[in-house]
Amino acid sequence: MIKTRVALFVGSLRKDSFNRKLAKAVEKLAPEDFEFAHVRIDDLPLYNQDFDADYPAEATRLKKDIESADAVLFVTPEYNRAIPGVLKNAIDIASRPWGTNSFAGKPAAVLGISVGAIGTALAQQHLRNVLAYLDAPTLGQPEVFMQMKDGLIDDDGNIGNDDTRKFLQDFVDRYVAWVKKHA
Ligand code: FNR
Repeated sequence: MIKTRVALFVGSLRKDSFNRKLAKAVEKLAPEDFEFAHVRIDDLPLYNQDFDADYPAEATRLKKDIESADAVLFVTPEYNRAIPGVLKNAIDIASRPWGTNSFAGKPAAVLGISVGAIGTALAQQHLRNVLAYLDAPTLGQPEVFMQMKDGLIDDDGNIGNDDTRKFLQDFVDRYVAWVKKHA
């Protein structure tokens, strides 16, 4: 079976991250011919334009992780009404050196879960701006703004209620179709 490979970014480094649980839930709802590779962002240096002359090994690894994938997926918290700095740093690194933007043409989608009621909406909107500039066609609907509640998603990505499962399944189905359309 030929597999479609998705480079999956989780914007939180926290061990018990709700967004990592949401990422696992999405993975479980995906069809068999989709495989997800979690992209490592916790060991990247802080981006410095001096790198462009000689990119650090971790930065080159990140670029390869994206370039070898058919699509990208971002599951991220909102920090201070924007995306976390660790995620922006990874995106900046992968977008350079100039002329070698690793995201160009990669179909993308964004989702997130928060303790707050607006469920990462502003962070996702910021991320959509960034992805538009980076020429990554990003799924418009459905938007996934989730608020964490007890029992909603367990550590293994099992979803605790039918409505949420159906909603996320619809998201996954639309994302799969979006990725295939851009293949
Ligand atoms: C937050 N949090 C938060 N939540 C939100 O809805 N909007 C926000 O702007 C912020 N800002 C913010 C800044 C910083 C520095 C932290 C540490 C947290 C709360 C956030 O939703 C909560 O910590 C989540 O649990 C983070 O996601 P993970 O780590 O569980 O995936």
